[in-house]
Amino acid sequence: MKKILVINGSPNKKGHTKNIVEKVLSTIDTSKADIINVDCYKKQIMPCVDCKGCSHKIGQCSIKDDMEPIYDYLKNCDIIILASPMYFGMFPAPLKAIMDRCQLIWSEKYIFNKTTKPKKGILIFDGGTEWKNMYMPMETIAKYFFNTLNCTIEYKLFIANTDKDHHYLENNAASILSCQETISNLLEI
Ligand SMILES: Cc1cc2nc3c(=O)[nH]c(=O)nc-3n(C[C@H](O)[C@H](O)[C@H](O)COP(=O)(O)O)c2cc1C
Repeated sequence: MKKILVINGSPNKKGHTKNIVEKVLSTIDTSKADIINVDCYKKQIMPCVDCKGCSHKIGQCSIKDDMEPIYDYLKNCDIIILASPMYFGMFPAPLKAIMDRCQLIWSEKYIFNKTTKPKKGILIFDGGTEWKNMYMPMETIAKYFFNTLNCTIEYKLFIANTDKDHHYLENNAASILSCQETISNLLEI
């Protein structure tokens, strides 16, 4: 049974990001995958304070909060779906806090030479408007994040104009289908 970790950066329970993720996951064969959802806004996660605890002792974070089980999910899942709205060109702060707290996993990899198991990643980003290369900054940060997690990017589903286009699911049907097919194929590996 594969483990799919869905990290959702949106505060909206019934928002566009949730809508897109639900559509993408609607075709998944649930006998082949356990889905673990992390809704960033429901978690109490402090920002990294660069205490250097994790660079002195492997796996050690001085902050004890909701991040503790998330480290385990991030290290042991097979597929990561990183789903997020764009906030001023970037990830919302609670999701960025999770990324920064992964300094613990960065230290394991680059200071203690211990990499986590290989994983496959899917990016799902949405934004209210549209401009050229709008997702480039988020994609770059996601690459750094996934590098630390030993996760390769297998599909990028970027949806724009969610605030104006009420038919964004239908209008992005082809790329949503490709995303679904990518995940189905990953579950077969
Ligand atoms: C604080 C804030 C900042 C935003 N910044 C951007 C932005 O830079 N570019 C953009 O296209 N949309 C921006 N939006 C719109 C959201 O990205 C868009 O509505 C998104 O689809 C919301 O997803 P959700 O319903 O899952 O929360 C912003 C919205 C908020 C609340």
